[in-house]
Amino acid sequence: MNDVLRIDADGVGLVAEVVGAGRALLFVHGFPLDRTMWRHQMAGIDGWKRIAPDLRGAGQSAVPTAGYSMARYADDLVRVLDAVGTPTAVCCGLSMGGYILFELLRRHRDRVRALILCDTKSEADTPEGMRGRDELAAVARRDGTGAVAARLVPKLLGRSTASRDPAVVETVRTMVLRSPVDGVVGALEAMRDRPDSTPLLAQIDVPTLVLVGADDELTPPAVVRPLAERIPGATFQEIAAAGHMAPLERPDAVTPALAEFLATVR
Ligand code: MLT
Repeated sequence: MNDVLRIDADGVGLVAEVVGAGRALLFVHGFPLDRTMWRHQMAGIDGWKRIAPDLRGAGQSAVPTAGYSMARYADDLVRVLDAVGTPTAVCCGLSMGGYILFELLRRHRDRVRALILCDTKSEADTPEGMRGRDELAAVARRDGTGAVAARLVPKLLGRSTASRDPAVVETVRTMVLRSPVDGVVGALEAMRDRPDSTPLLAQIDVPTLVLVGADDELTPPAVVRPLAERIPGATFQEIAAAGHMAPLERPDAVTPALAEFLATVR
């Protein structure tokens, strides 16, 4: 199967790419990105039905002007799984994608067969972090996504990535630049208002892999390793020479790590 689905989520049109056949593997992108950040994993993991939606307000999905929340994003993922016709999926999220998966676990635990958390954290925003969200939303509204890209792209990529693979920098910058402003602002509000998911970690009872780029500035290994340690039985893996966008920066390391974990999921 190689298809692009158009899904109605209470009047908001979502777009999801579906590749391959087999058990379901759902990829949830980060901020301010879209489903194409998973291009290597969508292409490189055989034997699974790989599903990569654009979240509302991102990529080719519709862009509501309001109503963004982790709960809404999580409910949208359920609409995607329903449209594909799968009761459960291995769910893989990067950063904001991870925040959404925590909400999916709280709201729809029965849809999650196993979990892959990449470059994410469980804590809610600090008061300073919340102010930063509002400030960035104001920048996006006033100056557009060019200003957002100028602030974020250097932090999204590891220090060695630009010299090793300058094309990745351009790929990420282009993704940020094409993000719709209303979707960027909505995601910032949803992240600002998200709950602390730390209490959930000890209750996670599905097989879990936690990955982080060794050079991730936004969610460094010092933050992500303790998250993995709080999830019963979770496997932790650090990806050398990668930053926050490890799946795009080091697909040669991340894709095999995912495949190895998936081979253990019954
Ligand atoms: C992301 O990559 O999704 C963001 O870094 C998440 C965040 O800003 O907290």
